[in-house]
Amino acid sequence: MIGTGYLGATHAACMAELGFDVLGIDVDQAKIDALSAGRVPFYEPGLEEVLTRNLATGRLRFTTDYTEVAEFADVHFICVGTPQRDDSGAADLTYVHAAIDSLAPLLTRPSVVIGKSTVPVGTAAKAAARLSALAPAGADVELGWSPEFLREGFGVQDTLNPNRIVIGTDSPRVEAVMRAASARQLEDGIPFLVTDLQTAELVKVSANAFLATKISFINAMAEVSEAAGADVIKLAEALSFDDRIGGKFLGPGLGFGGGCLPKDIRAFMARADELGVEPALSFLREVDAINQRRRARTTDIARSLIGGSFDGRTVGVLGAAFKPNSDDIRDSPALDVAATISSLGARVTVYDPEALANARRAHPGLNFANSMLEAVRDAEVVLLLTEWSEFRDADPDELAKVVQEPRIVDGRNALDPERWRARGWVYRALGRP
Ligand code: UDX
Repeated sequence: MIGTGYLGATHAACMAELGFDVLGIDVDQAKIDALSAGRVPFYEPGLEEVLTRNLATGRLRFTTDYTEVAEFADVHFICVGTPQRDDSGAADLTYVHAAIDSLAPLLTRPSVVIGKSTVPVGTAAKAAARLSALAPAGADVELGWSPEFLREGFGVQDTLNPNRIVIGTDSPRVEAVMRAASARQLEDGIPFLVTDLQTAELVKVSANAFLATKISFINAMAEVSEAAGADVIKLAEALSFDDRIGGKFLGPGLGFGGGCLPKDIRAFMARADELGVEPALSFLREVDAINQRRRARTTDIARSLIGGSFDGRTVGVLGAAFKPNSDDIRDSPALDVAATISSLGARVTVYDPEALANARRAHPGLNFANSMLEAVRDAEVVLLLTEWSEFRDADPDELAKVVQEPRIVDGRNALDPERWRARGWVYRALGRP
């Protein structure tokens, strides 16, 4: 398993759990030391148990040595990151290229390399050519691409029970290897789709583009609802009963963030531009813009609740992670809003059940509290920006005792407005009267 971030570490542990002998490699010694000691360097429910169990059986090991990896494995999975390169939005493929360039010259015997990282369409074909050019075993080293659809917070479950497995290849040998690696899932009847390389790459980015579009669609309806005095929660519920539409990813609120959806739609647009089909994806620019506007709108609602200015005001923020059950703060809508309000002169205090350490490192200018009550103490307005169950279950009376003014902006439509209003709170949400 090449690369032991969210994807690689989860996949390595789960493959060992399925009975395979797995060696994980990363260039980051600290990550390898942590994983070897049974510590997951990020928050992922259930992963630590799978990791420690399989370290104990000896089926799972970690290294920083590519020579060891080349000798050890029949199948190499590439799980390295593909972050956003710059303002162009294009994907940075440095780590994918580095993985191929480090591994290929050491491949002296037949083996299969399967890419799992999210890449711009066309990357896999180039990687395949580079691999056979650099590998001493030449054409006996073959490459396929099998995109990974796991969600953070559900990584173990999604890896062991994905809703489909896709392999891009025209090689019967690569397909057979992927079938063997997926034997348990095939037994369980999980759909297994074989495509060409390009289609496999596209499945991943188009799935993420669709999900982002669905979220922005309902958030656009929230904007209209706000202007028209309608209730987007009722609207979304009514839409969801049409099974052609469905209710998943139709949750209006502060919008999407994280290490995948935002960067993937931007990289997809950049690639479409290169391919000369820029207009085909120009709607994704609007998807991105709708998503950004929700952040501004949340800030505006909070500002209007305290009389039009944040200057010198006290604000409590609940949530820093880009979504609950994660400590990931990459492109977190919550932290973006918190930082904006702070830059407008407010004293902002943030609490998150898991993401505090990451948030502190990234935003040293914000204040952080170690509990929900501490974060909202003396607040003139409270913003709920990540819908952790701790916040959903919060007791309005308990919070009312410590705030300066009982005013709350529910950026995730996570609370029951009736309940909070009945306890004396001024309650505002996105897309609701
Ligand atoms: C996503 C894809 O779901 C996954 O298949 C892919 O492999 C990686 O990218 P992830 O980034 O872990 O996974 O998060 P996800 O659960 O998809 O949520 C993305 C963002 O959308 C979060 O910020 C979440 O708060 C937001 N969201 C989700 C909404 O705003 N409304 C919704 O209805 C659903």
